[in-house]
Amino acid sequence: MCGIVGYLGEQEACAILLHGLRELEYRGYDSAGVALLEASGLRCFKAVGKLDNLAAKLGDTASSGKVAAIGHTRWATHGKPTEANAHPHGLTHSQVVHNGIIENYVALRASVATAFLSQTDSEVIVHLFEKHLAAQPPAADTALAAFRATLDALHGAYAILLISETAPGQIFFARQGSPLQFGLGAEGCFFASSDAPLIGHCAQAVYLQDGHWGVAEATGVRLFDAEGAAVLPQPAALPATSLAARKEGYRYFMEKEIYEQPQVLTDILTGRLAADCLSLDELAPEWLRPLRSITLCACGTSYHAALVGSYLLERLAQVPTKVEIASEFRYREPVLDRDGLFVVLSQSGETADTLEAIKLAKAQGLATLALCNVDNSSIVREADHRLLLRAGIEKGVASTKAFSAQVLTLWLLALYWGQAKAVLSGERLAQELAALRQAPSVMQVQPGVHERLHRLSKRYLHGHGFFFIGRDLFYPLALEGALKLKEISYLHAEGYPAGEMKHGPIALADAQLFTIALMARSCLYDKIKSNVEELSARDATIIAITTEYFELADDIIQIRAYDHPMLEFFEMLVVVQLLAMEIAIRLGNDVDMPRNLAKSVTVE
Ligand code: F6R
Repeated sequence: MCGIVGYLGEQEACAILLHGLRELEYRGYDSAGVALLEASGLRCFKAVGKLDNLAAKLGDTASSGKVAAIGHTRWATHGKPTEANAHPHGLTHSQVVHNGIIENYVALRASVATAFLSQTDSEVIVHLFEKHLAAQPPAADTALAAFRATLDALHGAYAILLISETAPGQIFFARQGSPLQFGLGAEGCFFASSDAPLIGHCAQAVYLQDGHWGVAEATGVRLFDAEGAAVLPQPAALPATSLAARKEGYRYFMEKEIYEQPQVLTDILTGRLAADCLSLDELAPEWLRPLRSITLCACGTSYHAALVGSYLLERLAQVPTKVEIASEFRYREPVLDRDGLFVVLSQSGETADTLEAIKLAKAQGLATLALCNVDNSSIVREADHRLLLRAGIEKGVASTKAFSAQVLTLWLLALYWGQAKAVLSGERLAQELAALRQAPSVMQVQPGVHERLHRLSKRYLHGHGFFFIGRDLFYPLALEGALKLKEISYLHAEGYPAGEMKHGPIALADAQLFTIALMARSCLYDKIKSNVEELSARDATIIAITTEYFELADDIIQIRAYDHPMLEFFEMLVVVQLLAMEIAIRLGNDVDMPRNLAKSVTVE
């Protein structure tokens, strides 16, 4: 998502910041900016679009002498990608850059008397800082005290750098739930939200912990914990190359993105869950309430997420729901419900078939909504309403974290709609909210499970095919598991509803048919168990993903037990993603760039 860099020293800062921001480009962004604090005062430069636009704005601007400088690349979450919404955000004498989400920004905005220039949650930080500064009696560490008072007011997640003309030669910093690190090199002090910008400037970095905050100045860095006690910085070695740094220790971007899913789910839930209800600021309940049906439309993995959504929307919101493959929908002269909502799902926002589908629905007068990971993409611009996925840029061609983000967002939408229609009992809503809160931790990869999948994968590099089978919500998961495997291993795999196997595919069953059975304890367990028994009786090789011991399985991948099917769903999702990846790695394939595939399919 967003990227942060900072520099305190005497070298030319524009080049250092731009280089650092370029190292963070791979994370995705739609605007960028820098602020320089020199003896002559504070200057700020911002531009929408690529870093080249920012470089053009900077022209031959160069810092001179001692400088405290901060920079940012923004991936829009609150407000469109405009120059006003780009960071840094300033007021009269200070500038701030922020990653994360300030959950209570609406209340905080109301608590200051100053006018706002942007729609962001971040701008309020600099307003609060200047307000607290004005209230402090002048003293040596007035600005540090004002910074601390500002942090005390913030709820949510943040990595923050702040500079102020009232504190020349200082950079204030803080971390709570969003990464931030600094390194001391021969040329000064360097900050970044991940390792890559620091490489080449410093040999080691100090990784801030949640609650850590402090100030960098010419004499060094003063670091404090949440209680205000001094902390001794503990530096750790940086990776040797910036490519390695971008993968953050993982072998592939796909692996990194699988491991990022708990954070993605946390980001999606941030600011949306209250004690007994949930909110989606993007959609007014009175807009949703009169809509009589939903059509979900997408391609590939996004289509599988849509299928999951159809179960959730019918169950939780009691809205009749249809799911369409975009490439089929376009040409089949569909009869649409003009009182219904047409929802498209897309990671990239540029998939040609999905884009044409939303145009068709709009032309027929339907209300449209895009669930998309890329703000300002063609699909987002086409839709009447949007729910951004907050998954951060996805580099691996095989989609992983965008899928879990789509599923979680659809779950939120189903509950929000059910709440708006008052069709959910208080007890049911409370159960769903509790499960939602648990979802991020469920997606945490367990080292033992990953290790087991790695070892198991060597047995499944041949055979004449894989069947992923599941029932109910676990049928779309079976489709997604099979798609992941075929995309990156090039082995034949199919997803099937477990109950359908006996209507034909069971003819294929023999020892060389590998059946991955998604046996959810919380959802039709006895039904899928008898489906698997039928396959086992015909000598199919069974790999059971389940909480239970199952004597007919050739291999069991044991998962934790939950009483909510969506929690079992998310835990199994990690398993099928990792299994596909481990098999593909053993086969020597390029997991991030599988043959014949593109990340964004802009042709039909
Ligand atoms: C599978 C995959 C593709 C995409 C499909 C739609 O791993 O990535 O199947 O899901 O091409 O792409 P978006 O979601 O960008 O519309």
